Amino acid sequence: MQIIDGKAVSLAVKTDVRDAIAKAGIEPCLAVILVGNDPASRVYVNNKKKACAFCGIRSLEYALPEETTQEELLDLIDKLNRDPAVNGILCQLPVPGQISEKEVIAKIDPKKDVDCFHNENVGRLWTGSYRILPCTPAGVMALLDHYHIDPAGKHCVIVGRSNIVGKPMAALMLARNATVTICHSHTADLKAQCLQADILVAAVGKAKFITADMVKDGAVVLDVGINRNDDGKLCGDVDFEKVKDKVSWITPVPGGCGPMTIAVLMQNTLTAYKIQTKTL
Ligand code: GUN
Repeated sequence: MQIIDGKAVSLAVKTDVRDAIAKAGIEPCLAVILVGNDPASRVYVNNKKKACAFCGIRSLEYALPEETTQEELLDLIDKLNRDPAVNGILCQLPVPGQISEKEVIAKIDPKKDVDCFHNENVGRLWTGSYRILPCTPAGVMALLDHYHIDPAGKHCVIVGRSNIVGKPMAALMLARNATVTICHSHTADLKAQCLQADILVAAVGKAKFITADMVKDGAVVLDVGINRNDDGKLCGDVDFEKVKDKVSWITPVPGGCGPMTIAVLMQNTLTAYKIQTKTL
């Protein structure tokens, strides 16, 4: 078993972004919007700001109260869309219940959509004409590339069908010639599906959901989950201690896929800057 070191690979990616920005003598700008008081979202937003500082990206934070109306949020996005000094706009999800996630995503200028959530960018993703990448799935692909794990011809089973991870993960795996199965809460005999996986991606959001009996010997296991166990400790969707002895490669939590999401966000912000300044 070998551990995939997301911390090290993410540092290499961020360092490349930092060097490219310094060499070009530019300062891309990312606007991050956080609505409400979700503690996990607060941590993610702080980590994104830290990464911006490392890379030489200016970050603007808009921390809005829980009771913000949809109109207020859409007005802010409109203002940021029209501000030429802002290159990327990210609204941390989830948003409170009175706000429609779909409306928020649709409002963001696709050229500033550093999450790759806008329908235009999702369409580009599935047709192969993308420049901005979905952060978490692209981070997973970067890990595979770093360790020379080629998905071509492999059976990739993705557990979870969210718009943020499961579905875009399938698009990227397909683009790299994997055979893809997406499983979800209605899948019949999930264990049998998972046992087919040469590459297993867990994106469920439940601690220890993937157990050792669901993993084929020698599989590559990529754990996208970020959960807290009963002791409040960070853990993934995979029962790491029991699964690790069966696999060829595995990502830990923390220190696996999570840091890569942020590294790709930094790449995307630089890409968005280039798209807007027509230097790409
Ligand atoms: N919430 C959980 N993951 C993400 C992400 O990658 N981007 C945004 N905007 N919100 C999230």
